[in-house]
Amino acid sequence: MTQPTSHDSVRAVQWQGDQLRLLDQRCLPGEERWVTCRDAESVHAAIADLVVRGAPAIGIAAAWAVVLAARAGQDMDAILQRLRSARPTAVNLMWALDRMRGRIAAGDTPAALEREAQAIQEEDLAANRKMGHLGAALIEPGSGVLTHCNTGSLATAGYGTALGVIRAGVAEGRITSVFAGETRPWLQGARLTLWELVRDGIPACLIADSAAAHLMKSGQVQWVVIGADRIAANGDTANKIGSYQLSIVARHHGVKFMVVAPCSTVDMATPDGDAIDIEMRNPEELLSFSGKRTVVEGADAWNPVFDVTPAMLIDVIVTERGVVKNPNAKRMQNVFGTA
Ligand code: MRU
Repeated sequence: MTQPTSHDSVRAVQWQGDQLRLLDQRCLPGEERWVTCRDAESVHAAIADLVVRGAPAIGIAAAWAVVLAARAGQDMDAILQRLRSARPTAVNLMWALDRMRGRIAAGDTPAALEREAQAIQEEDLAANRKMGHLGAALIEPGSGVLTHCNTGSLATAGYGTALGVIRAGVAEGRITSVFAGETRPWLQGARLTLWELVRDGIPACLIADSAAAHLMKSGQVQWVVIGADRIAANGDTANKIGSYQLSIVARHHGVKFMVVAPCSTVDMATPDGDAIDIEMRNPEELLSFSGKRTVVEGADAWNPVFDVTPAMLIDVIVTERGVVKNPNAKRMQNVFGTA
């Protein structure tokens, strides 16, 4: 069931039978513009340019790109390779493409590939709802939480990962206040998370990323709840840049740190965080704001868009398969097996 509900009203990746419609996340919240992709190459561009973003959502979009390519009779090996290159860090992209590759190798028709892409999308939504309840159950009634980036319906098939826990926690009265960091430089928190939460009637409060330590010191949050782009075999977790510093600050202040991600984000073939490829993006994203240069000409910028939170700073990883408390290689293996 992929239909939106009153507290989860956005579906940003929409298959329309012969084309893929994507809500253009570069334009929110100012404009609700849709981009239509009729071939795999335009889906590749949409992923690389952040029209669609968030680890599960880019995997889902790539699965639909494979369907478009199969219908067009394209060279599937070349297309799979091309789509893989769209972004390096979120393993959901590779996971979805590997799953589609398996169906192609089994001789699936384009119609069967379409059913597989639909299954990937529906399973993600179901995983999010399950994680929402598992994660919320860990939060004491009356708690405040801080989240980072956007992990909601925009970043997934719907409902969200960390934002799914927040949706469930608010509905159950466990979470009474929600803070979201701006998430410089692309402002996923300010532009996207606040848009989703306000739209769905969840009161949320924006903070500058640099206000996080002061917020935690104030005692207003008991949990930091974030998503993930890749979780390594030892529990080290790559997520949006700034997550690592939040984990350090949280530990210092006795605030609990929760990572919420579907099994498609867990990469048991990557031993630890040092082996995760961290995406570097154009320095212009930092040097300019809304297309207008804000930094003196001649200055350079360093723009890694993810970082790695070490497992030892994570209190719990929540997946649809279960919860891993104080993650390490052994506990991860107990839940996810070996690669
Ligand atoms: O660069 P983005 O916006 O794709 O980064 C997204 C994140 O880091 C999210 O926290 C992560 O993908 C989890 S989304 C459910």
